[in-house]
Amino acid sequence: MLNKIVFLFFFAFLILIGFENCSSLGKSQYSMNKIQAENYLTAYGEHVFERESCKSCHTLHSDKQNATTVSLDGFGGKYSSNWLYYFLSDPKKFMDQPKMPTHVHLHDKLLDKSTFGEIVEEKGTKRQKRKFDRTWNKLMLQADELSMEIPLIKSGNPDRTEVLALISYLQQIPSTPSKITVDSLIHVKLREKEQSWDNFVLDENSITMQVAQLQESIENGKVLYAANCASCHGLKGEGGTGPNLTDEFWLNGGTDLDIARTIIYGAVKKGMLSWHFQVNPTEAGELLAYIKSLSGTNPKNAKYPEGVKN
Ligand code: HEC
Ligand code: HEC
Repeated sequence: MLNKIVFLFFFAFLILIGFENCSSLGKSQYSMNKIQAENYLTAYGEHVFERESCKSCHTLHSDKQNATTVSLDGFGGKYSSNWLYYFLSDPKKFMDQPKMPTHVHLHDKLLDKSTFGEIVEEKGTKRQKRKFDRTWNKLMLQADELSMEIPLIKSGNPDRTEVLALISYLQQIPSTPSKITVDSLIHVKLREKEQSWDNFVLDENSITMQVAQLQESIENGKVLYAANCASCHGLKGEGGTGPNLTDEFWLNGGTDLDIARTIIYGAVKKGMLSWHFQVNPTEAGELLAYIKSLSGTNPKNAKYPEGVKN
């Protein structure tokens, strides 16, 4: 009998604890698992993200990115908190004509206890009030901790504003599984390209030089060139940041082998990167074929000659 009573009390106790947890962490609109993980500042930041309509221009799923939405999938850790603090106040400092509006008002808006109460759906009982006060104090500490990472905020005078919550939220946006897959595919591809250069020796018999002799390589080379090289050498090879590739003058030597060497190994110190990791030996040959096909085309706006005549 006594056993049964003890058991019943124990059972009632369990139910009570269950209820308490349900009611304080109940059906709030924000992801309560974050609150449980004690990322109070992050939870507040999620609220700011919703309230400021960031979602009208941003998606958290790279799959859903389109012409009007910019993906923040996996954004966490991409930049420092200091960078974000600057960027959110004045995107113009970072790009010419940003579409991203300034959110400098968040730098002045203090974190607000009653707003936070709404976020976690604070309940009226005394016990829950005490719990909520502790939670709020923790949030304040988290804000102070984050502001240490932001030298711009005067030290010793913590500035507990909503921008900190937003930064805390942005800094933890994880990658979706599909973003992780895409990233790792890119990684594997780069690794494969890298490996394709193992044991490679650049000479007349190398695959690069043989591919470069083939007429049909020019078309593939043209596509690779437009994607990787035109930004610096011009779409028609006329030159820009990089030298004109259509004339007879060469800075790094003008034989086929010289040009192949520059394409593959770069002229790193002088602004031309090594293309080693982005192309494989066959593609390097296709690029060479295309560049050779440009010789003497004399495009419009051709850049002045540089280097030595071949
Ligand atoms: C009117 C549309 C719009 C709104 C609203 C908007 N953004 Fe943006 N945001 C952009 C665009 C577009 C970019 C890309 C850079 C550019 O062109 O300005 C961007 C860039 C960013 C970046 C940098 C992304 C990167 O990978 O470099 C972050 C972070 C960001 N926005 C956060 C936010 C947050 C947080 C909010 C809400 C407080 C917000 N944005 C509201 C349009 C918007
Ligand atoms: C970021 C800009 C940039 C990109 C992108 C770039 N290049 Fe260059 N390239 C340069 C610069 C700058 C030089 C001149 C280096 C020097 O002064 O020796 C150069 C030199 C060269 C040369 C030698 C020219 C000479 O006169 O000796 C070749 C060939 C060449 N690039 C091919 C390519 C190909 C092919 C690609 C794409 C796979 C490419 N470049 C992408 C900037 C670039």
